[in-house]
Amino acid sequence: YHVDWDASAAEKDGYDHFMLKEIAEQPKAVADTLLGRIGADGRLLLDQMRLSDEELREMDKVVVIACGTAYHAGMVAKYAIEHWTRVPCEVELASEFRYRDPVVGRRTLVVAISQSGETMDTLMALRYAREQGARVLAICNTNGATIPRESDAVFYTYAGPEVAVASTKAFLTQLIACYLVGLYLGQVRGTKWGDEVRSVVRDLSDLPSKVDQVLETMEPVRALARELSTATSVLFVGRHVGFPVALEGALKLKELAYMHAEGFAAAELKHGPIALIEDGVPVVVVVPSPRGRSVLHDKIVSNIQEIRARGARTIVIAEEGDEAVVPYADHIVRVPECPTLLQPVVATVPLQVFACEMASARGFDVDQPRNLAKSVTVE
Ligand code: AGP
Repeated sequence: YHVDWDASAAEKDGYDHFMLKEIAEQPKAVADTLLGRIGADGRLLLDQMRLSDEELREMDKVVVIACGTAYHAGMVAKYAIEHWTRVPCEVELASEFRYRDPVVGRRTLVVAISQSGETMDTLMALRYAREQGARVLAICNTNGATIPRESDAVFYTYAGPEVAVASTKAFLTQLIACYLVGLYLGQVRGTKWGDEVRSVVRDLSDLPSKVDQVLETMEPVRALARELSTATSVLFVGRHVGFPVALEGALKLKELAYMHAEGFAAAELKHGPIALIEDGVPVVVVVPSPRGRSVLHDKIVSNIQEIRARGARTIVIAEEGDEAVVPYADHIVRVPECPTLLQPVVATVPLQVFACEMASARGFDVDQPRNLAKSVTVE
């Protein structure tokens, strides 16, 4: 099976910026990446994996390596892979990996995530891992790039060409790839393969329309970005998979709007960063679904309460129908119901829109931010 990219995909199609166009393309990118990967019986088909099921069954550890936004996808992968497979999974910045004498060997599956497939830090880390005997699976958006060529197996994301320096649709498809790889590993290893995984597969298929739904409700987020465009700093907090979403929201704001932004694990605030909170500081809080892991939800609601009590202006990303956050939210951005592990796919979208609008409001070049290249081919 094959997804075609036509020539018009390389143009802006009436959007002011490539980034806006690429944000809008996310439902299709997610759908294309899922296409052909889920069999009629609901089981997963990953026919582009050139690692045998026997080899995958022997792996005793997964190590995810990536940089920047791809690293944030890797952080989400860790939660999903450990939950679905019970195989220990580490995630590491590719640039740090080979300089610390990491424990990798024949039974390590290294997952290298890269949109471009040419990021030097990731490439050097994967070469190092292979020298140690590890098997490498690349998650990549660029057909035939160096990283997939040098890997043992490849899982292509079908985001289509991403032109804007800030990664958006590639990130969402990297998340999808990570979920599918996690579910696949769970399937071949016979762990957790049952009702839970089957229902996750159904939930994955619902994501394109949920992302669409989010995109339709972004006007208030744009207005908020314009209103906050003179802020000196924006903080982002989340827990569990909401933590990498917070990091991603902060990275987008730094790279596009040149604004100081930091992402934290919400419970870490009290160990230091809460001292940064003073009157009016915007704090974006990513709230997990109140269903299922409700302990997590309740904890973050009390985190919002603490932040608000110290004068922060709270911007809360919460599921539709989650009323518990209402008393502590200055602004609520609603996202559709989603199991916690999959929530990054919908919760990241408002943060992309927020950063894009903030950059425009501050008069910066959205597609080509200063000092940055689309693909970092130096170490
Ligand atoms: C994201 O918005 C960035 N521009 C950057 O962090 C990027 O994700 C990183 O450089 C990794 O690139 P890659 O996916 O092509 O390897």
